Amino acid sequence: MAGKILVILLIGFLAFAYQAIKPPPPKICGSPGGPPITAPRIELSDGRHLAYKEQGVPKDEAKYKIVFIHGFDCCRHDVVIASTLSHDVIESLGIYIVSIDRPGYGESDPHPQRTPKSLALDIEELADQLELGSKFYVVGFSMGGQVVWGCLKYIPHRLAGAALLTPVVNYWWPSFPSNLSTKSYYDQLLPDQWTLRVAHYLPWLTYWWNTQKYFPSSSVAAHSPDIFKTQDMQLGPRFDGSQEKYRVW
Ligand SMILES: *[C@@H]1O[C@H](CO)[C@@H](O)[C@H](O)[C@H]1NC(C)=O
Repeated sequence: MAGKILVILLIGFLAFAYQAIKPPPPKICGSPGGPPITAPRIELSDGRHLAYKEQGVPKDEAKYKIVFIHGFDCCRHDVVIASTLSHDVIESLGIYIVSIDRPGYGESDPHPQRTPKSLALDIEELADQLELGSKFYVVGFSMGGQVVWGCLKYIPHRLAGAALLTPVVNYWWPSFPSNLSTKSYYDQLLPDQWTLRVAHYLPWLTYWWNTQKYFPSSSVAAHSPDIFKTQDMQLGPRFDGSQEKYRVW
């Protein structure tokens, strides 16, 4: 009897644990019940769609063709290099910028199996379908820096140049001075250190970790002001509301 109860409890616990670690199915843009499609999109070779936005001079007149990759909690509209450069600078230098919604963000289809390599190949496919030529620039902002790292590693022959703007790095990336990686890892707030440990060592627990309420999780995801320096706090209000035009809460 006690054995049976134990087995039932165990099954109940496993069912609960499974629910807690498994993300809910995504709402696909353009599918019944999903959000509408408003952006231009390309179809990738595996059938997924990638949404994009073009800005700057027409691409056939451009001297610099840039693929821009947004950061955390952002989308194709959040192009810091376009919003901080004046129209004159963009025109006189001949800059064309195409920004993407990373897979799973905005109107791009999710890709739960994505890897640094698949993201780089997505960008290469975008560049080819948009006919950007044999070489183009990649710029990644914040967490978009991770995608630029993948481009440098997997499609270096396609890059005219690469820039990482205030990138979020992977502390396990090789070829960085290990004392520097270690120092910056421990410069982070404790909840962020734990969030990265979970993602690195127990990736299958990531969804649970990011949604549980027992321990503090990523400060960025929690929009915690603790990560900001005084200067950030002073400048912050200038960016408040910049996403309101296109954001659906
Ligand atoms: C890491 O080690 C190198 C070489 O010993 C040294 O020049 C550098 O200052 C160190 N960096 C940090 C952040 O400790």
